[in-house]
Amino acid sequence: MMTKVKKAIFPVAGLGTRFLPATKSIPKEIMTLVDRPLIQYTLDEARTSGIEEFIFVTSRGKGALEDYFDHSPILENHLREKGNPDLLSIVQETTLDSGTIAYVRQHYPKGLGHAIWCARHLIGDEPFAVILTDDVIISEEPVLGQMIAAYEHLGGAMVGLSRVSWDKVSNYGIVEPETSEGKVLRLKGMVEKPAREQAPSDLAIIGRYILTPRIFDVLAKTQPDTKGEIQITEAIASETSTSPGVFGFVFEGQRFDCGSKLGFLQAGISLALERPELKDNLQEFLKSLDLT
Ligand code: G1P
Repeated sequence: MMTKVKKAIFPVAGLGTRFLPATKSIPKEIMTLVDRPLIQYTLDEARTSGIEEFIFVTSRGKGALEDYFDHSPILENHLREKGNPDLLSIVQETTLDSGTIAYVRQHYPKGLGHAIWCARHLIGDEPFAVILTDDVIISEEPVLGQMIAAYEHLGGAMVGLSRVSWDKVSNYGIVEPETSEGKVLRLKGMVEKPAREQAPSDLAIIGRYILTPRIFDVLAKTQPDTKGEIQITEAIASETSTSPGVFGFVFEGQRFDCGSKLGFLQAGISLALERPELKDNLQEFLKSLDLT
């Protein structure tokens, strides 16, 4: 029996420079889509996918993130006294159970691979997920949960995949699949942010990974790239030649790149349109904009 995937690493150490000046004092992960911070969306995806332990790789200035997941006695007492059970339960749902959440710092901005490696002692000897908070995915079934189900049959490592337009391949890790048919593809290789001419396909890695602890040994030996960053893509690429191999999961669902301003705005509008209390008025407003 394959060990269940119960732990997830959330690398959240980035400075969020694309959102300056806001990120001067607010961690990007706390910026809101409608009324919930960005981090809440990926955290909920993890929870509904069966993840029980949440590991955040943080950096200086991420205190608001730690407070967000903490018990908030003054606020909760206030809502209780005011007789506001709905808001009280919204607040209480954001508190993670004691011992299920851990924070580890990445002291130097040495890339995604290095951030993941920083959490090695908290993972131990079991498979784990990595979730990138920038990638918000709206889908009927949580994408990570679908990947975990596929992983439980196959083992190895797995990355979430989505097709992107060819002019965008240089923004992503791009995979080389053995075949291009089907939802679960065996991968021959992958390359981080290739030039369009060098991209092996238009299948991009989107921020969902399932890995096993052996990746930590690989990461320890992976050399930094020209920007001084240790890339997870390079470490996983070297696993494609091992058994049982590396798989890609081509997911269905609408994915927003909340690492960009446009993606963040699109996600906010799309999520607001799913709220019954906002939908009609927002639609009316959008129609009223003179977009010609
Ligand atoms: C990271 C990964 C890249 C992946 C992307 C998905 O890049 O390095 O392989 O395709 O996330 O969002 P970043 O967006 O952090 O530059």
